[in-house]
Amino acid sequence: MLEFGLEGKVALVAGAGPGLGRSCALGLAEAGAAVACVDFDGARADAVAGEVRAQGGTATGIRSDLRHMPEAEAAVAQTIEALGSLSVVVDVIGEIRYGRALDLTDADWDYSLDAVLRQFFHIGRAAGRHLVAQGEGGSIVSISSVSGLSSAPFHAPYGAAKAGLISLTRSLAIELAPAGIRVNNVAPGAVATPRVVARLGGRNEDGLPLESRAPLGRMGEPDEIAKVAVFLASDLASYISGQVVVVDGGATAEFALGAMRADQIPDNATLEQPPP
Ligand SMILES: NC(=O)c1ccc[n+]([C@@H]2O[C@H](COP(=O)([O-])OP(=O)(O)OC[C@H]3O[C@@H](n4cnc5c(N)ncnc54)[C@H](O)[C@@H]3O)[C@@H](O)[C@H]2O)c1
Repeated sequence: MLEFGLEGKVALVAGAGPGLGRSCALGLAEAGAAVACVDFDGARADAVAGEVRAQGGTATGIRSDLRHMPEAEAAVAQTIEALGSLSVVVDVIGEIRYGRALDLTDADWDYSLDAVLRQFFHIGRAAGRHLVAQGEGGSIVSISSVSGLSSAPFHAPYGAAKAGLISLTRSLAIELAPAGIRVNNVAPGAVATPRVVARLGGRNEDGLPLESRAPLGRMGEPDEIAKVAVFLASDLASYISGQVVVVDGGATAEFALGAMRADQIPDNATLEQPPP
């Protein structure tokens, strides 16, 4: 019953750097897939592929900038050449340019839209065309953010791009469903990837500054996002398509204005209970 169905399959991880991409590559390999680690930083791609091999898996590193369609097509072709086939894509690529919307430039906007949305359009099309032609189904997972579901200050182009990514994921899910290809999205909250930990000034015994903002009281760890991506990519999720799975420690469950500390609960709160 609980079979990933990834044994003997080939997965492409886009953005296979040291953060979520690394965790997804290691997770997919642990579930039985051979993994093509794709990153526009070739050293990062090779390093993660090396880690997968060191743990007994099969992997290859591919340098490719998916903002350019020919490079996305080349990444798919190189994956098939190196590993024999391709049936799973997990795309974690995404970059942030923070700033006040009124101060951002068109270049900032284009950068974020390309870094988040255009690159997925490219790998979704390149891999999607291959999967349809291959005729054996497949699955694609994109990674958005809670910023694509609700907004945060200084996130305007990032949030817009992530919201677009969710919509594009759903469009692909509908169009590729007749070919047995599932397309889903994971929306993480704050995750302690090396990039984020470095930005926050590193971990210390008090933890990281964002830890208390989620009801679970801590940031997510990269493998807690990867587990969900691997699940969605696998046959365990065989009837799930076009969905967004939020993995945020409960952060989006809370209505910000409703946040109340225990010592702020009024004494007469019990009067609001319905009569027996
Ligand atoms: N870390 C978090 O708190 C968090 C929260 C919500 C969503 N996310 C999303 O999760 C994803 C991964 O986050 P991360 O913290 O691991 O980031 P990261 O920057 O460590 O990883 C992204 C990788 O993608 C690669 N990359 C970027 N653009 C590329 C391109 N055009 N072509 C090929 N490779 C490219 C980078 O070299 C990098 O290795 C991102 O999409 C991010 O928006 C992260």
